[in-house]
Amino acid sequence: MFQTRSLLKTVTSAFIIATLSHAALLPTSLNISIQSENMRHILKWSSLQEVCCSVNYTVKYQGEFEYMKNDSWLDEYSCDKIVHTECDLTLALSSDSDYNISVLARCEESTLWAQLPKTFNRRDTVLLAPNMSVNPSVGQIEVYFGELQNHININLKIWKKGDEQNPVSKEITKIGHNGQTFYYDAWLGGGTYCLKAEAILDITKKTSSTDTHCVPVMEPSLVIPLTVGVAVALTLVVALILGLITPRCSLWLRKSMHNNEPLPNALLGWPKSTPIFSSKVLLEPTHSVLLLDPSEEQDGKSETKATCDEEMR
Ligand SMILES: *[C@@H]1O[C@H](CO)[C@@H](O)[C@H](O)[C@H]1NC(C)=O
Ligand SMILES: *[C@@H]1O[C@H](CO)[C@@H](O)[C@H](O)[C@H]1NC(C)=O
Ligand SMILES: *[C@@H]1O[C@H](CO)[C@@H](O)[C@H](O)[C@H]1NC(C)=O
Ligand SMILES: *[C@@H]1O[C@H](CO)[C@@H](O)[C@H](O)[C@H]1NC(C)=O
Ligand SMILES: *[C@@H]1O[C@H](CO)[C@@H](O)[C@H](O)[C@H]1NC(C)=O
Repeated sequence: MFQTRSLLKTVTSAFIIATLSHAALLPTSLNISIQSENMRHILKWSSLQEVCCSVNYTVKYQGEFEYMKNDSWLDEYSCDKIVHTECDLTLALSSDSDYNISVLARCEESTLWAQLPKTFNRRDTVLLAPNMSVNPSVGQIEVYFGELQNHININLKIWKKGDEQNPVSKEITKIGHNGQTFYYDAWLGGGTYCLKAEAILDITKKTSSTDTHCVPVMEPSLVIPLTVGVAVALTLVVALILGLITPRCSLWLRKSMHNNEPLPNALLGWPKSTPIFSSKVLLEPTHSVLLLDPSEEQDGKSETKATCDEEMR
C-alpha cells in the first residue's frame, strides 16, 4: 500500500517535472505585433526556431461578428502551418471591425497559442503621403503615383505658381499594382507649375499630403517655331547640296546614257576610245594584239576586258 503510494508519488512528480521542463522550453508569448501602413496589414511575431527543431505557425483571426456568433476563429489560409514569422492580413481584415488575432505555434509535441495583446482595427492604419513623381515636358506634366490599396484615394491639386487660390483639382481612385501615370496639359502656357497630392482614407477621412512640387514647363508655342526653323534650315542645306551636285550628276547621266546607245559609225574607226562591251567584240583579234603585252598573251581575253573597263573610266 505504502509502496504503491510512493510509487504513484514518484511517477506523478516525474510527470510534473517532465511537463514543466518541457513547458519551460517554450516562451509564454510570441511577442505578436501588427504593422499597418496604407491599409496593408502585416502581422509579425518572434521565432521559436531556437527552442524547437521543427516549428510551424498558423494564423487565426476573429472579428466582432465571429466573436458574437460563436466565438469562432477563422484560419488565414495563406498563413497555415508556415515556417516564416510574418503574415500578410491585408485581404483578411476587410471590415471596419475590431479583430482578435492569434498565432498557433506547433513545436514538436507542444503547441503555443498566443494572441495579439490588443484588438486591431484597420481604421488605425497609418496613412502615408502618396508616392508621387513629377516629370515636366513640353506643355505637359507627367505625374506618377505608386500602388495604392483600396479605400485610399488621392486628391491632386495643380496650379500655376502665384495662383495658389485657383488650383485645378483631380480626384484619383483605384491605382493598381504597378502604379499609374497621369498627364496634365499645361493649358495656362509656359511657366512654373506646382503640384500637391493628398491621400485620403475614405473610411475615416484621414488625410496625408505630399510637399508642394514646383516644376518649370516649356510653352509649346515656343517650341513649334523652333521646330519649323530647324526644318527650314535643313531643307535649305539639302537644296544647296543638291544644287552643287546636279550639274555633275547630269553630266554623268548623259555619259552613261551615251554609252548604252549604239555607237555612231564615225566613232567606231576611232582607235583610242574604242568602246568594247560585248564579249563578241572582245574576241576581235586586232584589238587584243594592240593592247596586250606579248608575255601575257595567254590571258589575253580577260586582260583585254580589264583594259577595256579601265579605258571606260
Ligand atoms: C518584440 O517585438 C518588438 C518589435 O517587433 C521588438 O522590438 C522586441 O525586441 C521584441 N521583444 C521580444 C522579447 O522578442
Ligand atoms: C477578443 O478577445 C477578448 C478575450 O480574449 C474578448 O473579450 C473580445 O470581445 C474579443 N474581441 C473580438 C472582436 O473578438
Ligand atoms: C459554433 O461552434 C460549434 C463548435 O465549434 C459548431 O458545432 C457550431 O456549428 C457553431 N455554430 C455556428 C452557428 O457557427
Ligand atoms: C508542423 O509542426 C509540427 C510539429 O513540429 C509537425 O508535426 C507538423 O508535421 C508540421 N506541419 C507542417 C505542415 O510542416
Ligand atoms: C514609395 O515607393 C518606394 C519605392 O518604390 C517604396 O519603398 C515606398 O514604400 C513607397 N511609399 C508609399 C507610401 O507607397
